[in-house]
Amino acid sequence: MLIRPRVWLPAVAGIGVVVALGVYGRLHEPVVTADVGGFLRIQTLKVWLATAVAGLLAVQLLTALAVYGVLPSGSWVSGVHRWTGRLALLLSVPVAVHCLYTFGLRSDTPRVLAHSVFGCLLYGVFVTKMLLLSRPGESRGWGIPLAGGVVLVAVAGLWATSALWFFTTIGTTW
Ligand code: HEM
Repeated sequence: MLIRPRVWLPAVAGIGVVVALGVYGRLHEPVVTADVGGFLRIQTLKVWLATAVAGLLAVQLLTALAVYGVLPSGSWVSGVHRWTGRLALLLSVPVAVHCLYTFGLRSDTPRVLAHSVFGCLLYGVFVTKMLLLSRPGESRGWGIPLAGGVVLVAVAGLWATSALWFFTTIGTTW
């Protein structure tokens, strides 16, 4: 099967972002904070932001299923899909910047390694999806649902390896 440039170019761009974030995460010297109290507050804030992102992604899944006719749809569905996606991106970026800057890509335990890989994967596949979407009027085939599915997997993986771990080991503190 011949894969056309309008599919593989966004895929290559996305892989480039994954690799760039991973290389930066490995090369960057982690920034250790001495203020443990402040760190715990930031950690808790990040955990709740990650949970909000995961919640918005659940709405993304339901609205995507409606767009593709699997669930009942309405004229508002695309708008809700777009705006929950934008909000999720907005909330995730400060969390990811803190992760990358403070810890980088780490592999201390399988959970931490999986979390770091899911984080890099998320922004790579997001770039792929946006590039696929930037071709109005063209038939986009399987690329967009596939990219959307990988975004969902990445966010579910990120949440499970960070917030869920936090809630089950430390608790649901504010
Ligand atoms: C860009 C790629 C990312 C990398 C390389 C990365 C890496 C890390 C690492 C190494 C940790 C410390 C894990 C530990 O020792 O327990 C961490 C913690 C965490 N990450 Fe990420 N992460 C990334 C993106 C994200 C994203 C997109 C989210 C959520 C939207 C997220 C949410 C969290 C949370 C909630 C924690 C626990 C709080 C903390 O320890 O500060 N990360 N991350």
